[in-house]
Amino acid sequence: SQIAAFRGPLMEWYDENKREMPWRKTGDPYRIWVSEIMLQQTRVDTVREYYRRFVKAFPTVGDLANAEQDEVLKLWEGLGYYSRARYLHDAAQQVVREHEGTVPRDYDDIRDLKGIGPYTAAAVLSIAYNEPHPVLDGNVMRVVSRVFASDANIKKAKTQRHFRRLAGELLDPERAGDFNQAMMELGATICTPTSPSCGRCPVQDACAAYAEGEPEQYPVTPES
Ligand code: ADE
Repeated sequence: SQIAAFRGPLMEWYDENKREMPWRKTGDPYRIWVSEIMLQQTRVDTVREYYRRFVKAFPTVGDLANAEQDEVLKLWEGLGYYSRARYLHDAAQQVVREHEGTVPRDYDDIRDLKGIGPYTAAAVLSIAYNEPHPVLDGNVMRVVSRVFASDANIKKAKTQRHFRRLAGELLDPERAGDFNQAMMELGATICTPTSPSCGRCPVQDACAAYAEGEPEQYPVTPES
C-alpha cells in the first residue's frame, strides 16, 4: 500500500539522517514548546543559540512564569516577532495557574494557551507525549501535495483540512513525534520547493508527483 511504502522508508531515513538539534535530546514538553515557538519563524541554525540561552535562564515553565517580561524579551532580542515571547510568557503563567505547572497533554487544553495554534499543539503533543496528532506546516503541505499529486489549492482552509487528514493517515502512530519531525525534515532538506532531490528521497517509490515526472509543479498555489 502507499502508506506502508511511505511510512517505513521515511522512518528509516530519519533514524539514519536526522540532524542533531538540542531540543531533540529532551523529552521535556516545556522545552519542546519553547523550541517550536522559536522555530516557527526562524531557521534551525539561528534558533540553536537562542534556545540554549533561554532554557538556561528559565529551566522550567515555573521559572519562566516567575520572570519579568523584560528579562524574557531581552533573551528574545534579535529573534523578532516579539509577540511570540510575550505570549509564551503569558502562557507559562497560565500553565502554572491552571495546570499546576504541567504542560497539558490534551489537545483542547493546550490549544487554549496563548500563542499555541494547531501547528504548535500538534508538534508539542506528538514530540513530547507521542500523541498521534499530525503537524501541517509549509514543508509538510509540500510533501503531502507531492506524494498524492494533489492539485488542491493549499491556500484554502478546505485543502489544509484535507491534507491534515492525509498526513494523519501516513503518520506512524507508534512514533508520532519522530514521524512529524521526519516530514518537516524531508521537506526542508530533500523535498524542497524548487529542484527537489528526488534521487536521494526515501519515499520516491510512494510519490505520485515523482511518477508523473514534474514534482516541482506541486503544491498548487493561486499564483502558480
Ligand atoms: N521545524 C519546526 N520544528 C521542527 C522540528 N522539531 N524538527 C525539524 N524541523 C522543524
